[in-house]
Amino acid sequence: MHTQPPAALDSILHQHGHQPTELLQILIDAQALEGWLPAPTLTDIARALQLPRARVEGVAGFYSFLHTRPAGRYRVLFSDNITDRMLGNAELMDALCRKLWIEPGKLSEDGLVSIATTSCTGLCDQGPAMLVNGRAISQLTHRRINEIAELIRQQRPLDAWPTEYFHIDDNIRRRDTLLSLTMKPGEALAAAIARGRDGWLAEMQASNLRGRGGAGFATAVKWASARNAAGDTKVIVCNADEGEPGTFKDRVLLNSFADLVFEGMTLAAWAVGASEGFLYLRGEYQYLRPQLEAVLARRRAAQLLGADVLGQTGFDFDIRIHLGAGAYVCGEESALIESLEGKRGTPRIRPPFPVTHGYLGRPTVVNNVETLAKTCLIALHGGEAFAATGTAQSAGTKLLSISGDCAAPGIYEYPFGVSIARVLEDCGASDTQAVQVGGASGMCLAAYEFQRRIAYEDVPTAGAFMIFDGTRDLFEVARSFVHFFAHESCGFCTPCRVGTALLKGFMDKLADGHGAQADLADIDWLDRLLKNASHCGLGSAAPNPVIDTLQKFRPAYERRLVSLDFEPAFDLDAALAEARQLTTRDDPGAHLQTHEEDTP
Ligand SMILES: Cc1cc2nc3c(=O)[nH]c(=O)nc-3n(C[C@H](O)[C@H](O)[C@H](O)COP(=O)(O)O)c2cc1C
Ligand code: SF4
Repeated sequence: MHTQPPAALDSILHQHGHQPTELLQILIDAQALEGWLPAPTLTDIARALQLPRARVEGVAGFYSFLHTRPAGRYRVLFSDNITDRMLGNAELMDALCRKLWIEPGKLSEDGLVSIATTSCTGLCDQGPAMLVNGRAISQLTHRRINEIAELIRQQRPLDAWPTEYFHIDDNIRRRDTLLSLTMKPGEALAAAIARGRDGWLAEMQASNLRGRGGAGFATAVKWASARNAAGDTKVIVCNADEGEPGTFKDRVLLNSFADLVFEGMTLAAWAVGASEGFLYLRGEYQYLRPQLEAVLARRRAAQLLGADVLGQTGFDFDIRIHLGAGAYVCGEESALIESLEGKRGTPRIRPPFPVTHGYLGRPTVVNNVETLAKTCLIALHGGEAFAATGTAQSAGTKLLSISGDCAAPGIYEYPFGVSIARVLEDCGASDTQAVQVGGASGMCLAAYEFQRRIAYEDVPTAGAFMIFDGTRDLFEVARSFVHFFAHESCGFCTPCRVGTALLKGFMDKLADGHGAQADLADIDWLDRLLKNASHCGLGSAAPNPVIDTLQKFRPAYERRLVSLDFEPAFDLDAALAEARQLTTRDDPGAHLQTHEEDTP
């Protein structure tokens, strides 16, 4: 017998128009009802959307912020980027677990609370940080942890917790053209519309703007391809997944410059002839959603979104916000589109590329938050003025998210071409041993490289700039990134699924004191395998942190090697110690090595 879903779930399904493309959003909303997704809820959702139940379960199982088992009324996730670790997140998590009498990763016996770790939450400038039921709390201290333990014990609803816990600073330390831009909403759009679609695209071409999401693809080329692609409905997606460890500049743009971002999306829509827009907001930034919705509502009221934008007949464009749910791979544009369609975030086989076959097969432009915000400068001041700053191949400025060992972490905007040394000086770093530029998948620069420049042609970066002073162990830095990749691999292709796990195994083996020269050779082999055979950029970038640090900080690895030849990861003789104790046998025959040595 088919029963009706409970009223609350029915209302969620109704709000989302019973659309399968809304599956992820429905699951996120449904989880808010009880803090997890019980099996009957998944069945009800599958039935209501007329989807196979396995599809619904597959999606629910893919995203780390969705729980198909009870996870407690308070779900605490400690941010676990290397910068959080440097600021003592492990001790704080340990303290909270002890205070609440629970083990990490487990649900308390009374079902009240669970405590675990999650990948970088984009708060590296004010860590250590945590999410409680998805809401971000930064600048954790032992005092704050004690207070949080008490609030949980008293079962105080999150809304009654002190508001200052949820305060997130922008930490803008250096402004250049973008961060000092004051623009009335609609001003850039009016300028672009006045130029006509062709004129506006020509201005974009003249600007030489390249994507700020990492790959540095020419934005005008991407827009022109989508514009020329066949299809009546075209789509603009703003990629606000910002999952690269150490990156948090998009958080600041969305918090304090949302009009620039939405105006940039509308400028893209004008060039491309798009009518649909999505902001794909990472789950960690869900606290920004109400204020972003308010900005969208204000822009609709001002005719900057909706039908006939700015009175331009036939220019219809609106933007919806889609939430992610804790999957780094969804930042990859084709995985992001899958996720937008309500599926698991598995990267697509390309070609075809999103510009011709993207969201629901429609021509789709995916651009980073910063890329889109930058287009406002081009609309206002022209392409040539934009191209006049930066370097020949890297026009304009770049936002850097600076964290780690320095006096003033935060957001710094520089013209492209700035040297690493200058950035280090400005943020008050001293005794710097290394800088990881571009996040876990970027590059690790040693002191002899600090004259190199931030630019696509030298040191490209989506913005992460993590600083490590002389006290840090670069092996542990690389190991934390390798753990990150193994955790975030979507598992779709074997080289990455197995390769990242093996890489993690080798690094752990070295850390546990069982490393040998042979392991370093195997790491080299894995590097080639992952680079050449991975389906997407996650797998091919996964060995970068190890290969870079092995090359530049080899002693950090070599001091961990116990043998030049081969060493097993597991010490069998040591593992037998307990058995020997129980049997009170400790003669040479009870020892594996002694016994083998004695054998003629
Ligand atoms: C594993 C992976 C994660 C990514 N994460 C992001 C991200 O969080 N934000 C982003 O803008 N681009 C990310 N990218 C790059 C996107 O695929 C895409 O190139 C970018 O959104 C295009 O925008 P742009 O041209 O404005 O840079 C990621 C790529 C890979 C392979
Ligand atoms: S490389 Fe890794 S993340 Fe990318 S598709 Fe393959 S398994 Fe998934």
